[in-house]
Amino acid sequence: MTRRWTPGSWRERPAKHIPTDYPDPADLARVETELRRMPPLVFAGEARRLKSLLGEVSAGRAFLLQGGDCAESFKEFSADNIRDTFRLILQMAVVLTFAGGKPVVKVGRMAGQFAKPRSAAVETVDGVTLPSYRGDNINGMDFSPEARTPDPERLIKAYTQSSATLNLLRAFAGGGYADLHNIHRWTLGFVDGSPQGARYRELSDKISEALTFMQAIGVTPQSHPDLSRVEFFTGHEALLLGYEEALTRVDSTSGDWYDVSAHLIWIGERTRQLDGAHVEFCRGVKNPIGLKVGPTLEPDELIALIDALNPEDEPGRLTLYGRFGSDKIGQRLPRLMRATRDAGRRVVWAIDPMHGNTLVAANGYKTRPFDRILAEVKSFIEIAQAEGVHPGGVHLEMTGQNVTECLGGARALMEGELAERYDTHCDPRLNGEQALELAFLVAEKLKAERHATPLRAAE
Ligand code: TRP
Ligand code: MN
Repeated sequence: MTRRWTPGSWRERPAKHIPTDYPDPADLARVETELRRMPPLVFAGEARRLKSLLGEVSAGRAFLLQGGDCAESFKEFSADNIRDTFRLILQMAVVLTFAGGKPVVKVGRMAGQFAKPRSAAVETVDGVTLPSYRGDNINGMDFSPEARTPDPERLIKAYTQSSATLNLLRAFAGGGYADLHNIHRWTLGFVDGSPQGARYRELSDKISEALTFMQAIGVTPQSHPDLSRVEFFTGHEALLLGYEEALTRVDSTSGDWYDVSAHLIWIGERTRQLDGAHVEFCRGVKNPIGLKVGPTLEPDELIALIDALNPEDEPGRLTLYGRFGSDKIGQRLPRLMRATRDAGRRVVWAIDPMHGNTLVAANGYKTRPFDRILAEVKSFIEIAQAEGVHPGGVHLEMTGQNVTECLGGARALMEGELAERYDTHCDPRLNGEQALELAFLVAEKLKAERHATPLRAAE
């Protein structure tokens, strides 16, 4: 593609799932101008750092762990919520690092994940039809004309909340909370008494012992600061391009454009049209980019998207998140993996086992059976191994809260229990216990991979 790119060139393309019903377009333009003056949320050098770590993933030397709410909300915004999701990610990272013997790249689906593409533009309740809820940065969830009318001020609130979230995440990542010596303290209360809690305790005992040994031989947090901190990155779906554009700046170090609203942004399954606005916007920013890859995508279309988004074949630039459903992955993924492998494209292949496994329970709750989620992750790893591709990571909708949104898991959550703590603003999330169980399953699979591959010489 040789067309000229600017942060606003997406406006000349067909844009799906971007609201056009703001009552006053001038008001939206005023807010976007205000956002242009706001400080960046991330620094371009951090996005480059994440890209280089994802490059390691694409080369098979690391693993990506990405997770958080389906949609963040203004109502559920609290320090405890942020901390609990963060500590769950730490626990899962410990499990995965230990089993895989490779670094785990940690990315929160946090600090900016607000906008949602909706399958229907309107919703009808008792004969009343209103616009659908589209995420807290656009309109409100209440079923009233006022709440459902898009309000540009919500963009400012979303920016402010993202900034506060990111500030706390940075403090946790670097300020001592993530110190491996705290490994026992990350377990969430409700997970403590579960089989996963016990399994985690066993693992953290081993790691503590190793830390004591290392301390004795002089490897301490003073000599090795990485023992006491993590690098933590953020990512969200770049859906609302007006917001993303307003936060796109030239990096003074490299002269390149970066979307400084997050380290990583991704294109959703419903907005990945080759000639659409979302691909146009993302091709021009230098951040690491994600692309959701669903059951209708054909290998030649995938290659065309890769050509558009990563023409220089830069490692770490592009992460593909398969999201097929446990019943479809076996049929769809192998040929897509073969296509990228045979074309020699350096991409990260990861799995989103959430979005292809959603169903509506008999009692009307939108849910996801945990066994199908696990089955899709298992198939993903097996297919990747069979195709000689690195199973690079997982992308999950999860929360540190004790919610009852996905069926099953070790505690075998039943349909009748969904109503107990069904708090999501959008899709059903794994709770802490289910997420940890999934991490253990992936860990077992990665361990098998590690034993199967010949040892590389130490680097
Ligand atoms: N900094 C290292 C890493 O991120 C080690 C580490 C410190 C760590 N705290 C952690 C690993 C918490 C996992 C979880 O890998
Ligand atoms: Mn979702």
